[in-house]
Amino acid sequence: MNEDFKVTPWEVSGEIDYDLLVEKFGTRKIDADLIDRLSRYAEPHPLLKRGVVYSHRDMDWILDRYEAGEPFYLYTGRGPSGNTHLGHLMPWIFTKYLQDTFKVPLYFQLTDDEKYLFNDNLELKDTRDMAYQNLLDVIALGFDPELTKIFIDTEYIHSLYPLALKVAKRITFSTARAVFGFDNSNNIGSIFYTSIQAAPAFLGSVLAGKNVPCLIPCGIDQDPHFRVARDIAPTLGYYKPALLHNKMFPGLQGTDKMSSSQPNSTIYTTDPPKLVRKKIMSAFTGGAVSVEEQRKSGGKPEICSVFKYKLYLFEKDDQKLAELYDRCRKGEILCGECKKGLADVIVPFIEEHQRKREEAKERVEEFMLRDCGGT
Ligand code: TRP
Repeated sequence: MNEDFKVTPWEVSGEIDYDLLVEKFGTRKIDADLIDRLSRYAEPHPLLKRGVVYSHRDMDWILDRYEAGEPFYLYTGRGPSGNTHLGHLMPWIFTKYLQDTFKVPLYFQLTDDEKYLFNDNLELKDTRDMAYQNLLDVIALGFDPELTKIFIDTEYIHSLYPLALKVAKRITFSTARAVFGFDNSNNIGSIFYTSIQAAPAFLGSVLAGKNVPCLIPCGIDQDPHFRVARDIAPTLGYYKPALLHNKMFPGLQGTDKMSSSQPNSTIYTTDPPKLVRKKIMSAFTGGAVSVEEQRKSGGKPEICSVFKYKLYLFEKDDQKLAELYDRCRKGEILCGECKKGLADVIVPFIEEHQRKREEAKERVEEFMLRDCGGT
């Protein structure tokens, strides 16, 4: 078994064994029955069918409540440490599918405090500015302004703080250390921080004045925060938040996670379209060393980042994806052609996104959750 990888909210590295994570974290795999159940509401999203959104906590309970006439709200977020890249968009695209399907509110947290505390190279001004840049990408995806409320921690803190305090009082240092691996060298802000990320899991209940189930779509790396939130929920008198976990979005250079520290393996939403094409054309693939060799023995789609991009987001047609897999294995299609196919989908996607992102600049106020004077 490969245990040589790391997945925490602040570090993802190595070759991730996602099944092992389910075991270690104690979550449940999304199975055919759950997908069946979800398909009663809408055609299940390709990310679900293809196992990218692959794990959950209490999703059946969320649907039970929903069916009993008790709708939930969605909560997700973003740590504004840099420009938005495709890896960030993926869970938000999935979140939008959930909002469209269930017509429920979404609270979106921008954790400028977190990225300041956990990153030696960033000032608070940097992470605040970046929060505004990032929220344009959220708005650009087309969330319903009636149902979607975005907040930036250092701005909204007045409202969030009373709730964060109630959370913080129930988490001991010993728990935080065990869950997050803190030691004596961590600054004390980072130890408190989990209460800030946990609080919005109850914010919908506080603002509604009654207990409202909360569903959090997020990367599996964020699960530790919500494990803690779930443990303390009963003592606060709230429901435990439910979760849907996605796998990390792969990098273009064959790494398991698209990461801002490797610019060539990362497609930013603000990249000029030409650069996007260039990055894709130099992506890591599962091709053989020579054309002849590849014609003879075929490529390896299972390790190919270009194939993964199509699987994750950019080839919606299951049939076409299966054909591509087959043709690659048989050496019938070469990497150049395949990369070009991907660029021809991603470039227009980015261009369209950039147009909507410009429009979003006029719409920020519509989406902001403003200080209500304390929860
Ligand atoms: N910590 C997350 C990040 O670094 C941001 C975040 C805050 C978040 N609240 C969340 C992510 C809820 C998922 C769900 O990106």
